[in-house]
Amino acid sequence: MSVVSVGGDYEVVIESGCSRRVADVVGDGVQRALVVHPDSMRGVGERVTASLRDRGIDAYAVGVPDAEDAKTAVVAAELWALLGRHGFTRTDVIVGVGGGTVTDLAGFVAATWLRGVPVIQVPTTLLGMVDAAVGGKTGINTAEGKNLVGSFHPPRAVLCDMDVLATLPREDYVAGLAEVIKCGFIVDPVILDLVESDPQGATTPDSPHALELIERAIRVKADVVSQDLRESSLREILNYGHTFGHAIEQVEHYRRRHGEAVAIGMVYAAELACAAGVLSREVVDRHRAVLSSVGLPTAYESGHWARLETAMRRDKKTRGALLRFVVLEDVARPVRLEGPTEEQLRTAYAAVSA
Ligand code: GLY
Repeated sequence: MSVVSVGGDYEVVIESGCSRRVADVVGDGVQRALVVHPDSMRGVGERVTASLRDRGIDAYAVGVPDAEDAKTAVVAAELWALLGRHGFTRTDVIVGVGGGTVTDLAGFVAATWLRGVPVIQVPTTLLGMVDAAVGGKTGINTAEGKNLVGSFHPPRAVLCDMDVLATLPREDYVAGLAEVIKCGFIVDPVILDLVESDPQGATTPDSPHALELIERAIRVKADVVSQDLRESSLREILNYGHTFGHAIEQVEHYRRRHGEAVAIGMVYAAELACAAGVLSREVVDRHRAVLSSVGLPTAYESGHWARLETAMRRDKKTRGALLRFVVLEDVARPVRLEGPTEEQLRTAYAAVSA
């Protein structure tokens, strides 16, 4: 078992079978729990619910749609109605069991019910474990865009059950590795060394190698968010690769896996830093080598620049007319690049679409 403390405020437990021990972390005086899971994860959701009932807690399981369809005001309102019907009070809890969309939704409903009740996150995807479920970002989507309504609401605990991870489709697991590798580039180069020394082990969820990678990535996230919960500065480094990555997702109407878009986005950010004269070609090449060694994409089709640039200008990091990127000066040395020239932007695009 590994335990990562997030600034002493809560713990992330990484262990096989830990999802059955939610009752150990709910806290004192809890009488009711609402376990929110996607319909496709009914089995895990019901196991978690049963484990809470065994400990005398009135636990209710509720299925929500898969993926982004869960993150709507309509689904949130259905959950608020359930909480009202079952008389949930401020000392009761919500448990989010699923990928990042469900942990975002469960966190948002917990943040808003009675102005905030505790949430326990039980992420069931690699992306959820190393990113979405840790750090307290919660939210839903609106017709105008993703994550436009939300709140910072740190969880009471996060339980990463390695047994559940082993049942994931391989493509989803590999896509989640993009966020792990991102943590290697921005803070912890040992992650890159581990992937380079054994890419096969990195892509095998029940290997000791994978456990170490996940733990290291969670430590990076925990350290960053404990210093800057509200993303006033440092937390922005977690968006490495996301400016171009989010633009790809928008242009493709969110049909591409987030991690795949972020992988290409990191290569773009590296090429941009190189074009701006702040990063060496050697580190750019390392991006392509590490990402492709685990099967992640490193190139994007040409011919989409106008739409991608428009999407990037809507990014949350943009200030007025200035595009802002997180880039690297070297491995583990993230900096901001403000207002890159049109030529630098296009040179980087030409390099990723070559
Ligand atoms: N996913 C980036 C963050 O949590 O800040």
